[in-house]
Amino acid sequence: MKNTMIIEIDCDHIEEEKLKAAANILRRGGTVAFPTETVYGLGANGLELEAIRKIFEAKGRPSDNPLILHVARTEDVTPLVKEIPPDAWRVMEAFWPGPLTIVFEKTDIVPEAITGGLSTVAIRMPSHPVAKKLIEMAAVPVAAPSANISGKPSPTRGEHVVKDLQGKVDAIIVGGSCEVGVESTVLDIASEIPTILRPGGITREMLLEVLDRVEVDKGLKGDADVVPKSPGMKYTHYAPKAEVYIIQGEEGKSTEKIKELAEFHRLEGRKVGIICFDESQKEYNRDVIKSMGSRNELKGVAANLFKILRDFDETDVDVILAEAIEEVELGQAIMNRLTKAAGYKVINA
Ligand code: TXA
Ligand code: MG
Repeated sequence: MKNTMIIEIDCDHIEEEKLKAAANILRRGGTVAFPTETVYGLGANGLELEAIRKIFEAKGRPSDNPLILHVARTEDVTPLVKEIPPDAWRVMEAFWPGPLTIVFEKTDIVPEAITGGLSTVAIRMPSHPVAKKLIEMAAVPVAAPSANISGKPSPTRGEHVVKDLQGKVDAIIVGGSCEVGVESTVLDIASEIPTILRPGGITREMLLEVLDRVEVDKGLKGDADVVPKSPGMKYTHYAPKAEVYIIQGEEGKSTEKIKELAEFHRLEGRKVGIICFDESQKEYNRDVIKSMGSRNELKGVAANLFKILRDFDETDVDVILAEAIEEVELGQAIMNRLTKAAGYKVINA
């Protein structure tokens, strides 16, 4: 067990002294969890093998799942990549700092421990003021996966990180809730057509405003015969203790189907949880009901999703029935996380 330092930060009035302590831990090869605009990350010096090893150990993460390097300035990308293609410049100018990770061909200074043996490296420049300042002060590329135990929903609140990682890392910066709430979009720019390997805060629609073509990796659908291009997407993830089912269909129909399934599970002696939207919340009454927000406010839904999945672990619910949402704009990232939480168990209403 490590003696984890908990550093509370008010993100509106950042005390640099507190961040300096955290930056020093990173510089000395230690591990620091910190808030970003997407989810909390678990950071370590991304060029130092022993520091990288500590991340995998703390999370219990498979070693073939590559890490994202986080930088504070565009010029810090140059030494890490073979080239910055024109499309990369376009998306960097449009969306950095922010929830977009770009996959480049890597140079030799990027350790294979970061890339899981791949010849490419994923890089992101976060916009969260604490993340930005911390990375700048550490003055090294900061490797940072989501700060959860591998397989659990990513943390969007300081208390989620404390619950998962206290005693396993050197410091945790607690600094409020994450605005975006789902992880960054991972965009492969090294392939012929820019391809989304993981949908996230920057949507396909937004990318198409600056790029001519954007594909979505076909391996994301959970089909057994198509392997996802991003190694991390093949693992079970985000799963709460209860079994999750997604119910897809027209709004009224899916509500009826959920009520019918809830009744079935109740008769079988299982405690039922329902994940729904504000618009249909009043349709349900007997079970543990949690709304992700309004169907028309996808940003709010994304920001609530992981908290709701984690909150269900504090209940004794056995089965969770979740309403689906259309896979456009942020709905792509939301449905990607929900279907993974459900292990791709989708029921048509
Ligand atoms: O929003 C985020 O991206 C957060 C915050 C902390 O920045 N980080 C994050 O990291 O979500 P992680 O490790 O939980 O997810 C990284 C994803 C994984 O699915 C991994 O497989 C993929 O990025 N990835 C990393 N390097 C890659 C590469 N070279 N090629 C393809 N996919 C890569
Ligand atoms: Mg993760």
